[in-house]
Amino acid sequence: MIKDQLKTLIEENDACIGVIGLGYVGLPLIVEFASKGFQGIGFEVDKKKANAINNGTSYIVDVSDEDVKKCIDSGKMTATTDFSRLAECDVIVICVPTPLRKTKDPDMSYILAAGDEIQKYMRSGQMVILESTTYPGTTDEILQPIFEKAGYELDKDFLLAFSPERVDPGNPDFQTHNITKVVGGVGEDSTEVAALLYSKIVENVHPVTSSRVAEACKLWENTFRAINIGMANEMAKLCNTLKIDTWEVVKAADTKPFGFMAFYPGPGLGGHCIPLDPHYLSWKARQHGFDSQFITLAEEVNSGMPKYVVKLAANALNDVRKAINGSKVLILGVAYKKDIDDMRESPALSVIDLFRAKGAEVCFHDPFVPEVTFDHAYTIGDGEPLYNQELTDELISDADCVIICTNHSNVDYQRVTQLASLIVDTRNALDTETRNGSKAKIVRL
Ligand SMILES: NC(=O)c1ccc[n+]([C@@H]2O[C@H](COP(=O)([O-])OP(=O)(O)OC[C@H]3O[C@@H](n4cnc5c(N)ncnc54)[C@H](O)[C@@H]3O)[C@@H](O)[C@H]2O)c1
Repeated sequence: MIKDQLKTLIEENDACIGVIGLGYVGLPLIVEFASKGFQGIGFEVDKKKANAINNGTSYIVDVSDEDVKKCIDSGKMTATTDFSRLAECDVIVICVPTPLRKTKDPDMSYILAAGDEIQKYMRSGQMVILESTTYPGTTDEILQPIFEKAGYELDKDFLLAFSPERVDPGNPDFQTHNITKVVGGVGEDSTEVAALLYSKIVENVHPVTSSRVAEACKLWENTFRAINIGMANEMAKLCNTLKIDTWEVVKAADTKPFGFMAFYPGPGLGGHCIPLDPHYLSWKARQHGFDSQFITLAEEVNSGMPKYVVKLAANALNDVRKAINGSKVLILGVAYKKDIDDMRESPALSVIDLFRAKGAEVCFHDPFVPEVTFDHAYTIGDGEPLYNQELTDELISDADCVIICTNHSNVDYQRVTQLASLIVDTRNALDTETRNGSKAKIVRL
């Protein structure tokens, strides 16, 4: 019986685990399996990434070169672009991207491509687990039929489950091993085996009754964040109108030991998950005639934040008889969150684009990001790439306006407040002491 065969292989750490897509999610996952003694094969379409791994180097902040090298040297991990090696795997975990199309509909092409590669080399006795964030129904409506069409039968020839990835890149407290793993199989056998597998690498596993529950769970979590950030952004605008310090209000509210959870305003949503995932849920709901009003409203508020930041700067420049047109704008921090290099969906891109569309001369400093490129399909400014500038005294003092878009820890904000003339702080990067001693005019979200 497939369930018992796989359980034995997993219990004895004898299973070969294939991971398709070695990005922010797939690389830490395969390293975790290989470090626990499983044989790990990583499948990539990007030859450069596969080569880097095989040479013992990492390109992901949360995975050290040392960990990759250890796994490669022990012979427990290898990366390849040869998908025929999927046949060697007992378990195949799919960690490919799930972006949105320009129409904001789910782009399932990566999952379909992975499913197609798997069915080409499938053999009886394998389990497939999808980890990519996606709408409820993907695992049993999209993947299951691909394998069944290839002549394989669920529970007899293959097992199939969904287990959402919850990794928070750059978070030093929570990484793969200490984040509870939700697991939902297409059938009980799949849940049981997938739960056993993850129990080998994570401290807590939470099995649920179906893949759809697990898929919905991930989207609920991220929609919760998107909506609460939307509310924080709305409250920031409200507090600004009433001339109340937003950040002091949140800090005070956060002293309540129950019933409140602090979310913070900012220049807009960023990253590969929070701006995208709610669309997967609302798209699926729309197929069934249900319109999610909360998701739509949060999207409206959050996507309007870059414009709001530019408006704050325009008003402050106006106070000193300057226009955006012709002003020098220095963007401090362009990654979507502090202390990481991830630019995906970063709101700084929209902020830069809006400033350039209004004729500002924009430059940026980000200790983690060497270059910023723009997708011309969305660009209203000139769309030219920008390159990281050294944060010299001259760069700061030459700027008519400094916009703190990302509050990286390794920036000397105190120095910035001594040299700049105007700062728009969208992240509460400037503490009270720094603000009190500032020579620059400071505008806060
Ligand atoms: N990054 C996060 O913090 C995070 C957190 C939770 C969940 N997720 C979800 O996990 C999934 C993967 O995200 P990510 O951040 O790791 O993406 P990523 O872009 O960092 O990595 C995906 C990798 O898959 C590779 N790839 C694409 N198509 C492939 C194919 N057909 N075969 C093999 N490799 C292929 C790409 O080259 C890339 O290296 C997404 O669904 C995402 O929403 C991401």
